[in-house]
Amino acid sequence: MQIGIWLRAVGSTSVERTWWRESVFYQIYPRSFQDSNGDGIGDLQGIIRRLDHLNDGTPASLGIDAIWLSPFYRSPMADFGYDVSDYCDVDPVFGRLADFDLLLAEAHRRGIRIIVDLVPGHTSDQHPWFQEARASLGNPKRDWYVWAKPRPGGGPPNNWRSVFTRFGSAWTLDPETGEYYLHHFLPQQPDLNWWNDAVRDAIESVMRFWLDRGVDGFRIDVAHGLVRDQQLRSNPRFLLGRPRRNWDLEEVHAIHRRWRKVLDGYSDRMAVGEVDAPSLARLVRYYGNDDELSFPFNFHFLGQPWRAERFRAVVGQWERLLPAHAWPDYTLSNHDRSRAATRYGLARARAAALLLLTLRGTPFIYYGEEIGMTDVPIPPDRVVDVHGRDPERTPMQWDGTQGAGFTAGAPWLPIAADATRVNVAAQRDDPASLLSFYRRLIWMRRGSPALRAGTYRTLPAPRGVFAYLREANDEHLAIAINFTDREARVRLGTGAAPILLSTQHGRDGELDLAAVALAPNEGIVARIGGQAG
Ligand code: NOJ
Repeated sequence: MQIGIWLRAVGSTSVERTWWRESVFYQIYPRSFQDSNGDGIGDLQGIIRRLDHLNDGTPASLGIDAIWLSPFYRSPMADFGYDVSDYCDVDPVFGRLADFDLLLAEAHRRGIRIIVDLVPGHTSDQHPWFQEARASLGNPKRDWYVWAKPRPGGGPPNNWRSVFTRFGSAWTLDPETGEYYLHHFLPQQPDLNWWNDAVRDAIESVMRFWLDRGVDGFRIDVAHGLVRDQQLRSNPRFLLGRPRRNWDLEEVHAIHRRWRKVLDGYSDRMAVGEVDAPSLARLVRYYGNDDELSFPFNFHFLGQPWRAERFRAVVGQWERLLPAHAWPDYTLSNHDRSRAATRYGLARARAAALLLLTLRGTPFIYYGEEIGMTDVPIPPDRVVDVHGRDPERTPMQWDGTQGAGFTAGAPWLPIAADATRVNVAAQRDDPASLLSFYRRLIWMRRGSPALRAGTYRTLPAPRGVFAYLREANDEHLAIAINFTDREARVRLGTGAAPILLSTQHGRDGELDLAAVALAPNEGIVARIGGQAG
């Protein structure tokens, strides 16, 4: 594959241009993308079969550049793969290592890169490391995990809580040895002890295993977790802006710097970290001095109500905080959160996509967003996730048949009732469909230096409208998005400008920049002559 790296000015900053800064990423949750053997669960061969949907080199496909593949490693599946029992093998439900190698080769052949999920914070309780660690107090692997005696009088050693709130304490008593072990997620996901150098070395070997196989990088699970207060002190009862002792510790940055060195030992590899920082100011620290993550995920869109002012504020604050070397990224959905079309409504899904794909920053698209998949209500007897995330993880809707083209068997999660209507086959040849809109949007971005790598500047706009400029050399694009359910009018400059793309199918021709009329929830991209404002 040809990989271009070159330097150029981006606004007042100088950002190195790399493939991952200019790529559109697509997240695949392997269980739900495509089943190839009729067991009702997606697998690696299934993904291979669907690569042409993602990018066949022509605008008839979505046109994404890179895949983030959620875990496919050996796992008892208590947390559907985020509980790893062998970091260096494929779970039989997804296939074999040879299938992974084929997937990587087939993706690369199409110019699609693949980053894989690295889950360094915890293993499965079935991982041989934990099995050894729990065997006895004196086991050499004991210190690979976090153990503590009950507090005087009994009970967990401190007040740390599991992220999965239903479990309450982050500690579980191991009756065999009489000590508690730490787990910030399920009791079946014991936390590794990141103060132990052997753990650091072991996970770096895992990274090298996949890098040597040719993966293009990692999405790092809970990248702000890992290290916890060494004295295991409780969190203050009222945090009130005070730092927590089990998240986002300074030492975590030392680990990220080590990982960056590992990545930099290979050519063109990257890491995006899942960092749930309490503020953008804390989040920005994960870029380090251009020696930590390629970028941390910016999840701040996920919690925003559909209001122009809120989105503009997130982008503005982020742009101001980013140091010169840092490149932003944005996402609207993932396997842990309600889908965008559910949060905002289908009518706004196009405008949300237009925003995501025209901002300065790498966009991450969750599978199914391109056809407007929504959260699926799960009957109580079909619930499988401990934390209520099944609705956003249902099978990809490929066609209107019984198994939605996803499976010939019984799907592991229910298929959406609207899959007969909302599916790839139904939208593929309909120029007015959401899928066709996504395709046009992504291919427009691919062909536009301004959108891929240009500067960003907001334009004045009335309440409810978010307008900005993206510029590179002599390409000047004005973007305006009406977040309201009423028509809006915005001034983007003077003179006439051709519409490159609108969320309103069929709207083309020229705009009068002095008074651009926007339909409710309409977003528009116009090519202007550099005279905006
Ligand atoms: C974050 C992942 O995105 C989520 O799905 C998982 O349950 C936790 N980390 C634990 O690994």
